[in-house]
Amino acid sequence: MNVVELIRKKRSGAELSAEELSYFIEGYTKGEIPDYQVSAFLMAVFFRGMSKSELGTWTRQMLHSGEVLDLSDIPGHKVDKHSTGGIGDKISLILAPLAVAAGLKVPMISGRGLGHTGGTLDKLESIPGFDVNLSIPVYRKQLAELGCTLIGQTGQIAPADKKLYALRDVTGTVECIPLIASSIMSKKLAEGIDALILDVKVGSGAFMKNAEDAQRLAETMIEIGKEMGTPTRALMTDMNQPLGQAIGNAVEVAESIETLRGNGPKDVEDITVALVQEMLDLAGMADDKTDAMLREKLRDGSALKIFRDIVEAQGGDVATIDDPSLLPQPKNRTFYKAKSAGYIRFENVAGLGFAALELGAGRRKKEDDIDPAVGLLCLVRHGQKVEVGDHLFEILYNDPSTLSPCEKRLANAIVVQDDEPKPLPLIYKKLT
Ligand code: URA
Repeated sequence: MNVVELIRKKRSGAELSAEELSYFIEGYTKGEIPDYQVSAFLMAVFFRGMSKSELGTWTRQMLHSGEVLDLSDIPGHKVDKHSTGGIGDKISLILAPLAVAAGLKVPMISGRGLGHTGGTLDKLESIPGFDVNLSIPVYRKQLAELGCTLIGQTGQIAPADKKLYALRDVTGTVECIPLIASSIMSKKLAEGIDALILDVKVGSGAFMKNAEDAQRLAETMIEIGKEMGTPTRALMTDMNQPLGQAIGNAVEVAESIETLRGNGPKDVEDITVALVQEMLDLAGMADDKTDAMLREKLRDGSALKIFRDIVEAQGGDVATIDDPSLLPQPKNRTFYKAKSAGYIRFENVAGLGFAALELGAGRRKKEDDIDPAVGLLCLVRHGQKVEVGDHLFEILYNDPSTLSPCEKRLANAIVVQDDEPKPLPLIYKKLT
């Protein structure tokens, strides 16, 4: 088969056969098709989309590009959650231990930062020593013993997605429904889960900027889950302001620990509880007392203890969980202040992700290192009234030359306006 022909075919909008798509995924996974040809193909998909049958084949090929785990010998309901990515989205760090505290098993395979959004793996790695690269036997053992593993994609699990994800991040091909849906579903279905809840973000900080696109993405993934026999639901949640205050890596871990202590931001706690409630419902374990029970597990320290056990099992320094001030800290801190009085509205939440990226909290190229200590604290909420000089952000930085580009991004991301904006819902819709 000729790869250039396949690229041309997709570019012209024709449908590729199952054989052609399988050839493409297999060739790329084995390193036989180079990045530049795959980049061109991805851009063609970005503009032309994929038919239902193309998407089914593409996802199945990605899923079977590696091992598909069978966890049926491990007792319990194995349910996971995946977010389509947002700013300040640290929900996985709180949700996984909370779901375990409520009786579920959570085999979670997460990703790194993508585009302007942060990644769970990068956040976890800001805990000194935390190892996200467990072998499959260790993954299984920890899941059986502690009820949860928090790992990255190994070379064995959906390796095609691992390669494509990193390539899409640096070729402007992330915000594409078939590519996002196949990426998420291939790695999640490879985990060996019984059910899946998706947190599909909507708004200026999400890949899907409007509710129609977000709903199409959610429905596409639910359909894939159904076809593959894994019950899948989605909550469409707001990303027109950051989740919580912290945006970065260590700073988001610290906020997650606060939430696990029952003292976290209300939006972070509410979304986490809503998602775990859905996970329990998928397992047939939810009732009208579930919400209160989950909040109690945050207040009484049981979810925090599970998080600490996971950190310990994966080689992380548990002293940082007991005292988050031991997490990597920046050399410098400064405030970004309001230049006028009025009401806060976030014009471009993705810009906050790019502001954190300017400081070194994310990657521009796939080989870049992340600075775990830097980031932002967003000190205001949508619709809040501020006066001139009020602190809008705290900037946590190491390299002084990153400060001015970060501030420029912040200036373009937030508006102080005269009229009070309409309140934003936290959860737009549930899709089953
Ligand atoms: N999360 C993923 O795992 N893949 C995507 O493509 C986007 C978000």
